[in-house]
Amino acid sequence: MQVQFITLVLVLLTSSVSVSSTTSRISLVSTTIFDVMKYGAKGDGKTDDSQAFMKAWKAACQSTPNSKSIMNIPGGRTYLLKPVAFAGPCKPSKIFVQVSGNIIGSTKKTDWMSNHADSWLLFSMVNGLTVSGNGQINGQGPIWWKNACIGTPPPALQFKRCNSLRLNGLTHINSPRVHISLTTCNGVIASNLHIIAPETSPNTDGIDISSSTNVNIRDSVIATGDDCIAISGGSSNIKISGIMCGPGHGISIGSLGHGGTDVVENVDVRNCTMTKTLTGVRIKTYQGGSGYARNISFKAIKLDAVYNPIIIDQYYCPTQEDCINSTSAVKLSDISFDGITGTSNMDNVINLSCSETVACTNISMDNVYISSVTPGRKVFGKCVNAHGRISHVKPLFNCLKP
Ligand SMILES: *[C@@H]1O[C@H](CO)[C@@H](O)[C@H](O)[C@H]1NC(C)=O
Ligand SMILES: *[C@@H]1O[C@H](CO)[C@@H](O)[C@H](O)[C@H]1NC(C)=O
Ligand SMILES: *[C@@H]1O[C@H](CO)[C@@H](O)[C@H](O)[C@H]1NC(C)=O
Ligand SMILES: *[C@@H]1O[C@H](CO)[C@@H](O)[C@H](O)[C@H]1NC(C)=O
Ligand SMILES: *[C@@H]1O[C@H](CO)[C@@H](O)[C@H](O)[C@H]1NC(C)=O
Repeated sequence: MQVQFITLVLVLLTSSVSVSSTTSRISLVSTTIFDVMKYGAKGDGKTDDSQAFMKAWKAACQSTPNSKSIMNIPGGRTYLLKPVAFAGPCKPSKIFVQVSGNIIGSTKKTDWMSNHADSWLLFSMVNGLTVSGNGQINGQGPIWWKNACIGTPPPALQFKRCNSLRLNGLTHINSPRVHISLTTCNGVIASNLHIIAPETSPNTDGIDISSSTNVNIRDSVIATGDDCIAISGGSSNIKISGIMCGPGHGISIGSLGHGGTDVVENVDVRNCTMTKTLTGVRIKTYQGGSGYARNISFKAIKLDAVYNPIIIDQYYCPTQEDCINSTSAVKLSDISFDGITGTSNMDNVINLSCSETVACTNISMDNVYISSVTPGRKVFGKCVNAHGRISHVKPLFNCLKP
């Protein structure tokens, strides 16, 4: 039955013909489906399906050039996977990974030790990849969170050197650490994702972007124990919109400048809602380091009981050890906060702490209205070595230098 069904789909898909009336040319794009069940997956949530997934992936990746490959992961089943690397380059110009079922990580220590994996599910050097569906990727994080001794937890899903990447629709839960990591990718659209982990889970960022360009993340719900989205060095042309963030640590740029040069530019974050997050929008850099972060815009951000709504922190020092002030810093400039409104759980609602030697310049703040969750309670903003201008800001905020 299964085989017949797949054959039928194949016939339907391969016979989809598009006719252009002006040139009367006929183009035929063949689509081939590689179903993990046909490659030996059990989908019972107990048997290790890693090999079946690898086989299906290899077949999809080595399929005909100029075709479309679909690696299909059927619904109604749970697939147990050890660390798996889905490597390219692939022959087809487009590869779809259709996730309808649930994928769960192994909770056996030996499965991780023997694989030396720096991620659980890694896609590398695959261009034209789409990962979509209504399935779930469950990193089984709790086993890692409470056993710090089993080593540094891996990101659940990592994309390295994947250009023209699309991520759509999946639910990502309980990663050991970062849920989705994008590194050295160009041209990414991620949308309609649900990323969920407990508020208390350590370092479970939603999406980390590093050394990547032209990344668009939109219309997603991210509720985890750390940053909803973090943008780090080497990233430019990043657009983030329509994110419901919280609980978590908000949307952050950084940490930058940890012992080197970092550059981030052209970041646009808009139409996001932060609910009970530790920070709202934040740029954080260590003391020391070099490079810059510039042309960064935070616009139309709603705050609901956020602890630290607006932060620039050039004294970032999470360990609180050896926090010495340096004469060098990542230079921050051309940063605008426009339309940031709502409530905070704390009294200090704006904190712009810039390097003493390398000032922040051209900061603008417009239509920023933040009040306390406690009616009538006074809130305030403060700044160190920050230059720029304001219009329509409450609380009273007069520490920006011209
Ligand atoms: C803002 O984001 C929400 C999702 O949080 C979306 O439904 C809405 O369409 C977005 N609005 C605009 C103007 O983009
Ligand atoms: C600033 O960034 C935006 C994208 O967020 C981009 O459209 C614009 O061209 C950039 N401006 C400069 C001067 O690079
Ligand atoms: C570093 O500089 C900041 C800002 O001027 C100051 O508040 C802080 O005390 C300094 N820290 C040390 C360790 O000197
Ligand atoms: C200040 O930053 C804004 C973006 O926030 C930019 O459009 C403007 O050109 C910058 N002004 C100067 C003088 O660099
Ligand atoms: C503002 O941030 C700086 C740098 O992290 C920190 O030292 C300071 O305590 C903060 N100020 C307030 C009032 O929270």
